[in-house]
Amino acid sequence: MSNLKGVTITWLGHATVLIETAKGTRILIDPFIKGNPKFPQEFKMPDGIELMLVTHGHSDHMADAVTVAQRSGSMVLANHEIVRWLSAKGVGNAAGMNFGGSFKFHDVTATMVEAKHSSGIEDGGALIYAGNPGGFVMTIDDGPILYHAGDTCAFSDMKLIRELWAPELAMLPIGDHYTMGPREAALAVEFLGVKTVLPIHFGTFPLLTGTPEALEKALAVRNLKDVEVIKTAPGRPVK
Ligand code: NI
Ligand code: MN
Repeated sequence: MSNLKGVTITWLGHATVLIETAKGTRILIDPFIKGNPKFPQEFKMPDGIELMLVTHGHSDHMADAVTVAQRSGSMVLANHEIVRWLSAKGVGNAAGMNFGGSFKFHDVTATMVEAKHSSGIEDGGALIYAGNPGGFVMTIDDGPILYHAGDTCAFSDMKLIRELWAPELAMLPIGDHYTMGPREAALAVEFLGVKTVLPIHFGTFPLLTGTPEALEKALAVRNLKDVEVIKTAPGRPVK
């Protein structure tokens, strides 16, 4: 296991991830709880989610954003368009940002980075423009640098993310169909230079066929056998 320096990462199925820093800041990324078939039913979401990050407007990434943000009074970071929508739905504490921008919150600096995908919010039968999809690099004071890619294919500007931020651990979609699958994710790992991968966005629905084992095989083909693929169950903390 990579040294997470007191940070705890709990994958909650699909792209939903809860991170708690050594100083106790709780970050929830892409909350998809009620309709998420892989959300661990026995898991009790902490009441205090101080910071929420939303990568894009699709419902499997923000279905529960309003509920959790209102209950916890979370600070929400997302692109400008999503923040406008969340604010209209009653989320009081949110900051719209865009690629290249960083936002410091307690011991976490969140930087919005590019993703290649789409973004749109289903709202009452309409599809609302929701800006560009993104990912987040989280630089944690006295802790590791983490990257949540959101939904994306592999893209060569992941090399820029490496050059600028050098994340140590990447949460990468591997399910295929709507995002990259294992073969592409292995190339993403190479571009990013990360030594640890937490696979996400797989197995939720039958179409999302990629597996951590297939990612390991694809990494071996690229001679990246030293990269650790975290195999965990939703709700089981990784430290
Ligand atoms: Ni999506
Ligand atoms: Mn998705």
